[in-house]
Amino acid sequence: MENDIIFKPLEFRNLTVKNRIFRSSISGRWDNYDGSGTQARINWEEKFARGGVGAIITSFVPVAIRGRIMPNYATIHCDERIPFWRKVGEKVHEYDCKFILQLSHSGRQQDIGGVENQNLKALSSTSKTEPFHGFLCQAMTLEEIKNTIQDFADGARRAREAGLDGVELHSGNGYLFTQFMSSGINDRQDEYGGSLENRARFLLDVIRAIRKEVGNDFHLQFKISAIDYNNAVTFWEKPGNTLADSIQISQWAQEAGVDAVHVSTGSLFPHPLNPIGDFPFEIIRKTYDTMLSSGVYTIRNYLLFRYWLLRPIFALLWNRVKKSLPPQAIQADEVKNKEMRKLLEANQGRNLNPAAEIKKHVNIPVLCTGGFQQASYIRKAIDEKYCDAVTIARPLIANNDLVHDFAAGKDLPDDPCTYCNKCLLNVIENPLGCYELSRFNNYEEMMEEVMSVFHITQFNQEELSKVSVPLG
Ligand SMILES: Cc1cc2nc3c(=O)[nH]c(=O)nc-3n(C[C@H](O)[C@H](O)[C@H](O)COP(=O)(O)O)c2cc1C
Ligand code: SF4
Repeated sequence: MENDIIFKPLEFRNLTVKNRIFRSSISGRWDNYDGSGTQARINWEEKFARGGVGAIITSFVPVAIRGRIMPNYATIHCDERIPFWRKVGEKVHEYDCKFILQLSHSGRQQDIGGVENQNLKALSSTSKTEPFHGFLCQAMTLEEIKNTIQDFADGARRAREAGLDGVELHSGNGYLFTQFMSSGINDRQDEYGGSLENRARFLLDVIRAIRKEVGNDFHLQFKISAIDYNNAVTFWEKPGNTLADSIQISQWAQEAGVDAVHVSTGSLFPHPLNPIGDFPFEIIRKTYDTMLSSGVYTIRNYLLFRYWLLRPIFALLWNRVKKSLPPQAIQADEVKNKEMRKLLEANQGRNLNPAAEIKKHVNIPVLCTGGFQQASYIRKAIDEKYCDAVTIARPLIANNDLVHDFAAGKDLPDDPCTYCNKCLLNVIENPLGCYELSRFNNYEEMMEEVMSVFHITQFNQEELSKVSVPLG
């Protein structure tokens, strides 16, 4: 382990992380409707800290109620949330794991707005309807832009006051920042639209505002979709930002004061390339109904998901972009199981080439997300300077103890993640967890694991005993 790059600490300007495996953001509906937090979220984050990751990047944390993706995500839109986030941070810190809060705003990519937003159109860079689900939106005024920049700065201040280790701007995957940065989406005529410099202005204004609010000694990283592939599914749209655009934005972001860049892909979420893998129709046909009233194209989509005769049309659109991907960046150690070898080849490390290009042009650490779960592959990615650390979501849902497995000398866990995306498509309606039945002995065992975050812990038993009325 001593000479293993995976276990070598990573030093940022303001933060040291004990190893090179970060838990990437994974949103789930754990919290109360109003965005106040619950014990389930604390239990969820504790799983990964206990499993040995060096740092956890939280799920999407809205800086404003109008910028949420759906209800039941803990927010950071007011000072009342600070004690909850402090509690989560303290729990994670017990395992010498760092905790980075993902400051987020949905913009028009709002799956379920919730009652507070029922009579409001989502805010965006544009008034163009979102092309996949048909979410309606309106272009932000300059005043609304100014207020939203302050919302991010306030969110960063609250994260700092909560004793957390840093913040990440959720500036990838189609959310508000992407809606400003992407040439495929932003159609503004003012100083926040047009040239790349203008489209990047919102991100850079937020970075500067955060630095002004929290100073230079608090960790701040940003996530970027290195390539938009904005017309991957909706082929009539413009393609959006290129890798060259993202390199330039990363350099500007570095100058403005970020400490790291986190490389992802795609100008919507989910996207065929993020999280890459299958699209399980049998799950989405049961869960997409929760979104039927959210957009003007949702009924069309529901029919495509629901009727097996129509599914090939959607599958064709969803999968076509995968055919344009170059071969894998690096070769890992041989995997005996043929099926798993094929899955790893198709899905592991697909953002490494763009990450390496960005890395060549900045001098801050680069994190890369996408399909990592094999120690030999991760080692090569870091050793060969594609990135400085990897961030992992689904393979850690499947195997919370993945890092301990690596420390014990395993190259792959015994039951690897199959990239089936059943966790992802369940999450709009059901608790987040691994729903790949083939990884469990039976359905009951799978449910036990999914429901384990709701188990009462020592902490909330004590809290409950303070408020419960004795019987008899
Ligand atoms: C259920 C689920 C929820 C996710 N939520 C977020 C999120 O809130 N913010 C974010 O930046 N990425 C989110 N992601 C993307 C992951 O952080 C990660 O970048 C992506 O899944 C690719 O990594 P993986 O192959 O290790 O899963 C989510 C992914 C999944 C599967
Ligand atoms: S459901 Fe389980 S196996 Fe499938 S992608 Fe999610 S974590 Fe991986």
